[in-house]
Amino acid sequence: MERGRGFVFSAIFACSAFAVGPMSVGILRAQQSVPDAAAIGRGGELLGAQCGFCHGTNARGGSSGPDLTRSALVQEDEGGRQLGEFLRVGRPDRGMPKFDQLTDAQMSDLAAFLHDTIRLVARRNLYKILDILVGDAKAGEATFNGAGRCATCHSPTGDFKGIGAKYEPEVLQGRMVMPRGRAGLPSGPPRPPYTEPTAVKATVTTPSGPSFTGAIVRLTDFDVVLYDQSTGQMRSWLRNGDVPKVVVSDPLQAHVDMLSKWTDADMHNMTAYLASLK
Ligand code: HEC
Ligand code: HEC
Repeated sequence: MERGRGFVFSAIFACSAFAVGPMSVGILRAQQSVPDAAAIGRGGELLGAQCGFCHGTNARGGSSGPDLTRSALVQEDEGGRQLGEFLRVGRPDRGMPKFDQLTDAQMSDLAAFLHDTIRLVARRNLYKILDILVGDAKAGEATFNGAGRCATCHSPTGDFKGIGAKYEPEVLQGRMVMPRGRAGLPSGPPRPPYTEPTAVKATVTTPSGPSFTGAIVRLTDFDVVLYDQSTGQMRSWLRNGDVPKVVVSDPLQAHVDMLSKWTDADMHNMTAYLASLK
């Protein structure tokens, strides 16, 4: 099994701490949408003390650790659960220590601070986004059909027909950056991320049996839980090193990959083009 950064990244990206029902996810989301100033304050202090040396006291990147506001793991976290699960194990082999002494309440405070910071960063980026008219729609169109390879999956007369009327420009840009999670949209029903078509999938192959492919509900060093979207069946396996074999695939890998290479101008041009599809 490949243990490169890409694998670990997308595995944890997809991780949902427990197989909770749609109801409890709905409740969690609802609670999360009200920022708790006290929790954010406590989380900020804790982060400054425990994580600041490596990730920066504002979490935007420090001496050795990455910018946590750009971490998919943090962005996908719900109320500190995924973050907590990650922190208890860490990635000691890559310089990220494990924090197994922190309580659930502390994990939740850290998450509150990080989610709030992400909100503020996103808002700051909105000012750039509102400059949307500076984008060159023609250049965006060329990228769409050419180097960006968007046209291999999308079409201005098919799935993107009227997309410029459907979303406000900033929402449109947000959807391009992070198309996962329609549940987060006002129109989308709250439901577990692993039931969405775009959920990260994995194929598990045991030495004896046939392989099973499903959306990742949970993937840790110790176990893997998959959900078969066509049957609603949930399966789990204990993991022991490379057994069973687990291969992760992200239907949105193209989006993840393209963004790492884009400039602000590319982003403006593409948004201007998509916004013109009224
Ligand atoms: C000694 C330095 C150090 C400390 C202290 C530290 N980290 Fe890290 N952290 C790292 C490094 C290095 C990585 C990147 C690991 C890798 O390349 O996979 C990382 C990765 C992470 C990631 C994963 C990012 C991603 O999406 O891949 C999260 C989340 C994280 N750290 C949170 C924290 C939090 C929260 C704390 C404090 C409780 C903390 N870290 C303390 C060095 C540190
Ligand atoms: C390999 C296939 C693939 C490629 C290439 C690709 N996308 Fe996507 N894109 C998807 C999938 C899958 C979705 C999720 C669709 C859904 O949830 O309905 C998506 C969603 C989106 C959305 C959100 C649509 C919505 O209604 O919310 C936007 C905007 C978008 N892509 C823009 C782009 C742009 C711009 C490019 C080229 C730079 C691109 N995509 C390249 C597969 C792709």
